[in-house]
Amino acid sequence: MPTTAPPIDLTGSTFLEQLHDGLPAVDLTSPFQIGREGKQPVTIEGRIALAPMAGVSVQAFRRQGRRFGASVVFTEMVSISGLHYANERTRDVLRIATDEHPIAVQLFGTDPVLMHDAAQQVAEAGADMIDINMGCPVKKVSKTGAGCALLDDQDTAVAVAKACADATNLPVTVKIRRGMANGSMDFLELGPRLVEEAGVSALTLHPRSAKQMYTGFADHALTAMLVERVDVPVFASGDITDRVRAEAVMALTGAAGVMIGRAAQGNPWVVRDLSTGTAVEPEPEERVAELVRFVREVVRELGEHRATGFLRKFYGWYLRGAAFGKSTRRDLMECETPGDVEAYLLEHWPAARERLDHLEATVRYPDDTDRVIELPVSAYGGG
Ligand SMILES: Cc1cc2nc3c(=O)[nH]c(=O)nc-3n(C[C@H](O)[C@H](O)[C@H](O)COP(=O)(O)O)c2cc1C
Repeated sequence: MPTTAPPIDLTGSTFLEQLHDGLPAVDLTSPFQIGREGKQPVTIEGRIALAPMAGVSVQAFRRQGRRFGASVVFTEMVSISGLHYANERTRDVLRIATDEHPIAVQLFGTDPVLMHDAAQQVAEAGADMIDINMGCPVKKVSKTGAGCALLDDQDTAVAVAKACADATNLPVTVKIRRGMANGSMDFLELGPRLVEEAGVSALTLHPRSAKQMYTGFADHALTAMLVERVDVPVFASGDITDRVRAEAVMALTGAAGVMIGRAAQGNPWVVRDLSTGTAVEPEPEERVAELVRFVREVVRELGEHRATGFLRKFYGWYLRGAAFGKSTRRDLMECETPGDVEAYLLEHWPAARERLDHLEATVRYPDDTDRVIELPVSAYGGG
């Protein structure tokens, strides 16, 4: 087995030339299962995973992603120490709605005992899978030995994953980067160890180094190498921006699924494109209606105070395109409350009201039948 391969440059246009007739046909809607012997298998009705993103993947984001066709969603990462020391104040923060399934709750940490305990809490909360973060390059996380630091400490990585897998009958998945340093091939050793020694049921590879953060491009030739080495499903994460790229990565790597992150920020329509093949640019009114609905749901979820700051980054993400312009985005940044944002948007795009009314009539809010568990939303970022 070679340990180097020519990179697939997904940042350029040339990757399309690498597609050839011999590649397997790709169906982004075909179902598959995650879960090995002794685990409660989870059926995933398609090949599109919505990425865990700290500061983004709140319940409103995940539910919207599912509504637009994501086959499985991930929560942002949650600290296992935070869970261990959880108090009343952290109660109610993470909810799993009935229409979010299948959902993986992502954990991070290094202590196998705390991981065991955290896994049981997550199982009780009704999650379908537990994902462990072994890729986050943010200092606040890696300096504790967690996130990407585990790429450099494989014995601890395996022990933590095993503690998680042994704790419940839920499938455990792990999300990794290629390694800490540029050019590292550590993932090729760690991936198989996580599967064989720890009992992990699926892997996600973001094929950048931790040092790279988000620069350069995701080298999915590495994803192809990992797929060859393990007999569990692998998700390909990194630079999946549209259906053509998603299909190309699936075909070129043999990955079981693709994971979409940044491209889906404020842009659920890209998820629809991946899941149904309808790449229709939404009307400005549709963008506004989805944004207002998102704002309302985030306010319900986080409360007005926390929602105000959390939502600011979404305004620019949603309101792309000539119809909006800089002044709109600036005005929204100056709004003091989410209610002011809503009033501003509906005043300037009155035609959005009809679409919004339709959303309100057809898309339910989470209710009392949804599970409420005590998990702190992480204060960290990146992965
Ligand atoms: C704002 C932000 C927060 C992220 N938080 C997490 C996280 O909590 N856990 C994780 O495993 N990855 C996290 N990631 C990494 C993404 O899941 C994904 O692997 C990465 O962004 C590459 O995919 P993309 O090119 O589709 O964005 C984060 C990425 C971003 C941009």
